[in-house]
Amino acid sequence: MDTKVSVKELYNLARERFTQQEIADHFGRNVRTLKRWESRKDGPPDYVAPGLQQLLFNTEVAGAGSDGDFTFIDLFAGIGGIRMGFENAGGKCVFTSEWDRYAVKTYNKNFVVDHHIAGDITKIPAKDIPDHDVLLAGFPCQPFSIAGVSKKNSLGRKHGFLDKTQGTLFFDVARIIEEKQPKAILLENVKNLKSHDKGRTFQVIRETLENELGYRVFPMVINGKGFVPQNRERIYIVGFRSDTDFSWDAFRKKDPEAKVMADILHPQNGSESPEKDYTVGSKAKVNGKYVLSDKLWKYLYDYAAKHKAKGNGFGYGKVTKNSISRTLSARYYKDGSEILVSRGKGNPRRLTPRECARLMGYPDTFDIPVSDTQAYKQFGNSVVAPVIKEIARVMKPHIMTLKEEAESHVHQYALYGQSD
Ligand SMILES: C[S@@+](CC[C@H](N)C(=O)[O-])C[C@H]1O[C@@H](n2cnc3c(N)ncnc32)[C@H](O)[C@@H]1O
Repeated sequence: MDTKVSVKELYNLARERFTQQEIADHFGRNVRTLKRWESRKDGPPDYVAPGLQQLLFNTEVAGAGSDGDFTFIDLFAGIGGIRMGFENAGGKCVFTSEWDRYAVKTYNKNFVVDHHIAGDITKIPAKDIPDHDVLLAGFPCQPFSIAGVSKKNSLGRKHGFLDKTQGTLFFDVARIIEEKQPKAILLENVKNLKSHDKGRTFQVIRETLENELGYRVFPMVINGKGFVPQNRERIYIVGFRSDTDFSWDAFRKKDPEAKVMADILHPQNGSESPEKDYTVGSKAKVNGKYVLSDKLWKYLYDYAAKHKAKGNGFGYGKVTKNSISRTLSARYYKDGSEILVSRGKGNPRRLTPRECARLMGYPDTFDIPVSDTQAYKQFGNSVVAPVIKEIARVMKPHIMTLKEEAESHVHQYALYGQSD
């Protein structure tokens, strides 16, 4: 019997997991080509098979970069803010998942990606993900419907809590941890994950990680303003599979050079070169398109005045050179109201995408290959890069200790044929 999987079968498997567009992107083709492949009796041409295997089973591309000090996977990768910090600490990324094609465009442009970027994580079987030392995930926050879990559903499963989180993206994080047993994890989320759904969401996450998956968990809320001129509080959940003496005390909460808006705004005096259509002319002045129209500014102004009269503080947030900003959100592209730059006279302006990148602590070498709308969404969704860099720095010695322990364990086993 011929057990070889045909290219048509491989392709059909791929179509169960990926959209036509994702497969087309993987091959650098357009969807029309895929439709042509699908119309052929024997499926796509044979030469497509290795690429399909790579897509499905995430086989490393021969000759890809060095091994790194440790390996990690980048889930809900966005534009790679978390990856950047862990690469900086000497880690090697072996798997990425991100389903937004514009985020993938930015990611691909800025990192050497030697594996196919997987799309929807809910469709990826955990066993298809390569082994790794560290799992990284800034997952969207969703409530868990604990009441909906029947006893029957929990029976026969090693980890009953996983059932309680079914249908959420945390479930996907948890099932991957269960299968792959990474030595360390870093989960990132909005600060109010702690109070979300009267604290139940966080409780389920913690109990799942600690009691069901057996991890030592260290949550911490950190404000990005110690590193960038932006108030941005996020919760970081660090976890280790075995005992470690990890402590947040080693984390330096502040960059000694405190930053203000002037450090990230375009200087507009010719000391930097114009970039794209963000800045123009010999002095690299901010493009007039970022100045609010009279209509929008009047709307935001009146809205704020109305709410102020009622005793509410809601409204726009204006920054000057010496201030720090509110949190940049993914909806900044709509009206930019949370961070408006005062121009002295005239209407205020929004930040340019480059200023948003700087406000999130990204270096100026970071390429922004997408439209302003996409760029605002991407940076608003991202992480304060230097915060992650510092977290990776304090996690690394513990990752390495657990890695060495695991390796000596394997070595002992090989020598004496027993593990304990
Ligand atoms: C909060 S953002 C994470 C941003 C990232 N930490 C960064 O530095 O850019 C969450 C990301 O998860 C992605 N996402 C949401 N659901 C997904 C899914 N089911 N599969 C893959 N990616 C998903 C979104 O497109 C978004 O980019």
